[in-house]
Amino acid sequence: MSLIASAAELISRSRYAVAVCGAGVSAESGIDTFRDPGGVWDRLDPMMVGTPDGLVNALNTHGKLLKRFFSGLLKTLETAQPNPGHLALAALEEKGMLGTVITQNIDNLHQEAGSQHVLDVHGNLFAFECLGCHHHQKFDRAAVLPAMRATLDTMTQFDLNAAKQLLPVCDRCNAPMRPDVVMFGESVKKLPEAFSAVGQCDLLMVLGTSGTVYPVAGFPSTAKQSGAKIVVINPMEDAFSHLSDLYLPLKTGEALPAILELL
Ligand code: OAD
Repeated sequence: MSLIASAAELISRSRYAVAVCGAGVSAESGIDTFRDPGGVWDRLDPMMVGTPDGLVNALNTHGKLLKRFFSGLLKTLETAQPNPGHLALAALEEKGMLGTVITQNIDNLHQEAGSQHVLDVHGNLFAFECLGCHHHQKFDRAAVLPAMRATLDTMTQFDLNAAKQLLPVCDRCNAPMRPDVVMFGESVKKLPEAFSAVGQCDLLMVLGTSGTVYPVAGFPSTAKQSGAKIVVINPMEDAFSHLSDLYLPLKTGEALPAILELL
């Protein structure tokens, strides 16, 4: 039996399947992963931009570099669309064959593909938290990106104050709002729901993640201990080879639609 057919059979037999996703799932939408060659952490030091204090400091010391990074990120987000992998996951959910998507990705593409039950444990780039009154508000991609682009393009100098001007303003207290994303050292979101899904599932699909960052990297072993089967889809590596029941060395944008076609 082919790997695709074996994966389809495991999904069709499962009572409650959960997908755990990483940056690889969005790679075919044109969004860079973190740790592949040429990825985000090849170009930037995670301690410089991945922690709140580091970022504040870097905005004042490495303004040019960060303006280039934000401008590139904006360009990517302006064009990124859900890819066939995202769409296949949404279709599996619609068919009742996938219960929950737990994603480390902050790009909102699972939701835009139509997935309803998404736990975005590292936050969401289009959800904002007011720095003044802590009010939370989700914005539409189309409402946020053009305004940021217009402001960024007029800036000749980039530092902390300039970066604040890129942020939307709270409609309750007028303070700037920060993207509600998890930086290193901050609490992962929706963790009780994620652990509950991982503990209850009988099939965990581990998709496009290097399995480097905890607690998500620990989900496959938690699920395995509760008796779940583990399917890994990743063209470059099976970071969970000691746990996986089935490994597909394929891109998720290719493997997931092919699996869906058999179901
Ligand atoms: P990584 O960049 O660490 O890993 C991406 C994985 O995707 C690698 O294992 C690649 O082999 C795989 N990959 C690449 N292209 C793929 C494709 N088309 N289909 C399937 N897989 C593909 O990204 P994550 O594991 O998501 O956290 O990283 C986890 C966390 O580290 C991120 O959420 C971020 C980062 O620091 C925070 O910023 C808090």
